[in-house]
Amino acid sequence: MKTVIEPFRIKMVEPIKLTDRAERESLIREAHYNPFLLRAEDVIIDLLTDSGTSAMSSEAWGAMMQGDESYAGARSWYRFRDTVKDIFGFEQVIPTHQGRAAEHILFSVMVKPGSVVPNNTHFDTTRANIEFVGGEPLDLVCVEADDLDSDFPFKGNMDITALERLIAENGPEKIPVIMVTVTNNSGGGQPVSMANIRDISRVARAAGIPFYIDACRFAENSHFIRQREPGYENTPTIDIAREMFSYADGCTMSAKKDAFGNIGGFLCTNDAELAHQERNILILTEGFPTYGGLAGRDLEAIAVGLREILDEHYLDYRLHSNAYVVDHLRAAGIPVMAPAGGHAVYLDARRFLPHIEPLQYPGQSLAVALYVEAGIRAVEIGTVMFGADPHTGEEHPARLDLLRLAVPRRVYTQSHMDYVLEAIGLVWENRASIRGMKIVQAPKYLRHFTAHFDWV
Ligand code: F0G
Repeated sequence: MKTVIEPFRIKMVEPIKLTDRAERESLIREAHYNPFLLRAEDVIIDLLTDSGTSAMSSEAWGAMMQGDESYAGARSWYRFRDTVKDIFGFEQVIPTHQGRAAEHILFSVMVKPGSVVPNNTHFDTTRANIEFVGGEPLDLVCVEADDLDSDFPFKGNMDITALERLIAENGPEKIPVIMVTVTNNSGGGQPVSMANIRDISRVARAAGIPFYIDACRFAENSHFIRQREPGYENTPTIDIAREMFSYADGCTMSAKKDAFGNIGGFLCTNDAELAHQERNILILTEGFPTYGGLAGRDLEAIAVGLREILDEHYLDYRLHSNAYVVDHLRAAGIPVMAPAGGHAVYLDARRFLPHIEPLQYPGQSLAVALYVEAGIRAVEIGTVMFGADPHTGEEHPARLDLLRLAVPRRVYTQSHMDYVLEAIGLVWENRASIRGMKIVQAPKYLRHFTAHFDWV
C-alpha cells in the first residue's frame, strides 16, 4: 500500500470550537497580536508547539494509574531511570520537571561569566539559561543551512571548522561544554548526521571539553539518520539513538517532545562528581533526586512514551506526514524550509512577505494573518525571538525570519493538515495586503512569550 496511515486509532476526542473571521480579528487584537496570549479554546488548529501537547496512548494512561507517589525511591523512579539508561546509556540520570530545568541546572554548574557555549543552534531557553549565568551562547550551524531550498539531508549539522576555530581562538578553558541540538529546532527542525556527531565528539574529546546533546527530538533525529545516512538503512532506530548518545558525555532532555509527555525532562551525565553538584541544585529547586519535580505517574508515562516514540511505524508516519505538508507547499511555490524537518513546518516569512523588513517582524505578521484567516496558531522564530541583544537592548535582524507550525504528536489527522494547507494558500494569495508590526512592550528575556505588538 502506498497510503501512509496514522498508525493508531482514536478512542477519546476533544471538540474543537469553530470561530469566524470577525471573532478572530477581535480576539487577536485583545491578545495584543501575540498568539501566546490567546486562549487555547479560541484556536482551531494549535500548532504553537509540539511540546507537552502530544496524545498519550492507552498504555501510558494505564501506567499512570500505577504511579508510585512515594517521596523517595518510588518504583516509578526506577522504571523511569532504567528506561532512560537503556536508551540514552548515561550513568547518571537526574529527573526534572521539564527541559529548561535540566539546562538551568547544567549551566549553573558548568558555565561561568565569560564562558562561551557553542551549539548548532541554541533553542531560546538554552540561550537564555546560558546568558542568565553570564555565558555567551554561540550558534555554529553548517553553511548548508543558509539555503532554505536545497535538499541537503542534514542541515542541522554543526560547522566543524568553525568549532575548531572557536576552540583555537578562545582556548578550551573558556568553553565549558559543547552542545548539539537534535533535531535543530530553531534551525528548522533539521537533523544532525551521525558523522557530524562523531566529528563533534572527536573535536571535543581532543580539546578535553565535555560534549552534551540537547536530546528533545532524539527519536526523530535517529529516524532521519536511518532514512538518509548511508550505512544506517538497516539499523534499528533505537540502536541509532544509542550510538548517537555513545559519543556524548551527557544530555539535556525535554520529555514533552520525544517521550509523548505532557510534562517532564531529565539531565544525564557520566560524571559522578558533576552529578553530585547537580543533585544539590535539584533538591533546592526541583525536588528529591528520585522524582525531580515530577509525580510518580509522570515518570511512568515518560517511561512508556520513551519506548513508544522509537516505534518505527510511528516514526515513518511522523516524518512522512510532515513531508506531506512541505511537499504540497513547495509545489504551490510557497517559500518553506526544505527538506521537511521532523516536528514542524517552517514558512520562510522573509520571502513570503518581502515587502516587510526584518525589524518589522514578518514572521509575527504572518502568524497573525494565519490566525485571522483560519484560527491556526503558529510561532515566530526570527527577529522577535532572537533579535534583541539582552545586554544592550539593541535590535538586529535574526539570521532567518521563520514561522513555525509545530505538529503535536498523534493529535491531528491528515484532514486537519489539508485545512492548514488551504489556509496558508489563502494567506499567500492575499500576502500583498499584510503589514509589518512593532513591539509595544516587552520583557528583557524571552520576550516573544509575552510581548505586546501592534501594526506599524
Ligand atoms: N531544547 C529544545 C531544542 C527545545 O525545543 C525546547 C523546548 C527546550 C530545549 C526546552 O524544553 O520546554 O521542556 O523546558 N521547546 C518548545 C518548543 C517549548 O516549542 O519548541 P522545555
